[in-house]
Amino acid sequence: PNPEREGLVEAHELSIKFYHYLLNNTKQGDKAKRYLRERGLSDKLIDHFMIGFAPDEWDVLTRFLTGRGYEPALLEKGGLLSAKQDGSGYVDRFRGRIMFPLWDAGGKASAFAARIIDEGQPKYLNSPETMLFTKSRTLYNLHHAKAAIRKSKQVVLFEGYMDVIKAWHAGVKNGVATMGTALTEEHGSILRRHAEEVLVCYDGDDAGQAAASKSIPLLESAGLKVMIAMLPKGKDPDDYISEYGPDSFMRDVVDSPVSVTKFKLIYSRKNHILLKEEGRKNYLMEAVEIVAGVESSTEREVYLKELSREFDISLDALKQDCNVIRVEAQ
Ligand code: CTP
Ligand code: MN
Ligand code: MN
Ligand code: MN
Ligand code: MN
Repeated sequence: PNPEREGLVEAHELSIKFYHYLLNNTKQGDKAKRYLRERGLSDKLIDHFMIGFAPDEWDVLTRFLTGRGYEPALLEKGGLLSAKQDGSGYVDRFRGRIMFPLWDAGGKASAFAARIIDEGQPKYLNSPETMLFTKSRTLYNLHHAKAAIRKSKQVVLFEGYMDVIKAWHAGVKNGVATMGTALTEEHGSILRRHAEEVLVCYDGDDAGQAAASKSIPLLESAGLKVMIAMLPKGKDPDDYISEYGPDSFMRDVVDSPVSVTKFKLIYSRKNHILLKEEGRKNYLMEAVEIVAGVESSTEREVYLKELSREFDISLDALKQDCNVIRVEAQ
């Protein structure tokens, strides 16, 4: 038992309740509440994720926690307070933001992600790395989702907090997100401990698709089967649910994923201009290389046939090139 650790967990638990109370019971909180409502979050959902609000003031949390006997130096070390520049004391770290509490995999309160209301920079301000919180190992909502992940053997991986929350409401109880930072090998092995398959459900913008592409080898080498959920251009899961509704999200996104090979083909296709002969040729060569990585010869033939039909190239020629690549790779 580490008393500093335990004190900090307790302080976080109190802070979660405090911020949640301020969201529901203050004038400033009303504005934050309206913002959350406009984004499609019901009171029930807000309660479930214990979302809160940090007022735009200097020391509400500082006074609340020190009044209960917590040492400000410890609270600063835990990322809840900031030391004043002139050394004359402490102020709240989070001000004028919507507070998303984070729990570690064991369900202990460990940090906050704090979103600005409407536009502004930075959009999200996270707790710093502390003895309770390591970004490279943290997965948002894992403690809630663990049972559902174990049961379905599958985990759905999102980019953002809002995606996890809105998808939870739509019916995805096995969703988690990284902290906006890159997916790490540690995340991979944590996911593998709970699941056999990952459904990657990243944003439908260039950054999201590039991140999905990068996540594939990492997740596969952790021993996970990978599938990819595709979103329309420029939409993230949270936008999609607001625009097309939860039923369409479940049916057309979550329950209609593509294989890794299919995703790679789609991704490669986007990087070539198929209207030009050069672009077509380059895409075809890259596509054949992608298909060459598929273990099953039946599956390879399915993909090659599609390419053969679409680009009016003989299946034999494609197969030959594919086999050359496979031999070379041995
Ligand atoms: N992120 C962050 N800091 C930022 C921007 C993003 O930590 N300044 C992280 C957050 O974890 C965020 C994730 O990256 O959830 C994905 O970023 P983005 O897609 O831009 O945010 P959304 O999750 O879509 O946020 P929102 O819907 O609230 O606008
Ligand atoms: Mn409540
Ligand atoms: Mn994004
Ligand atoms: Mn997003
Ligand atoms: Mn979003």
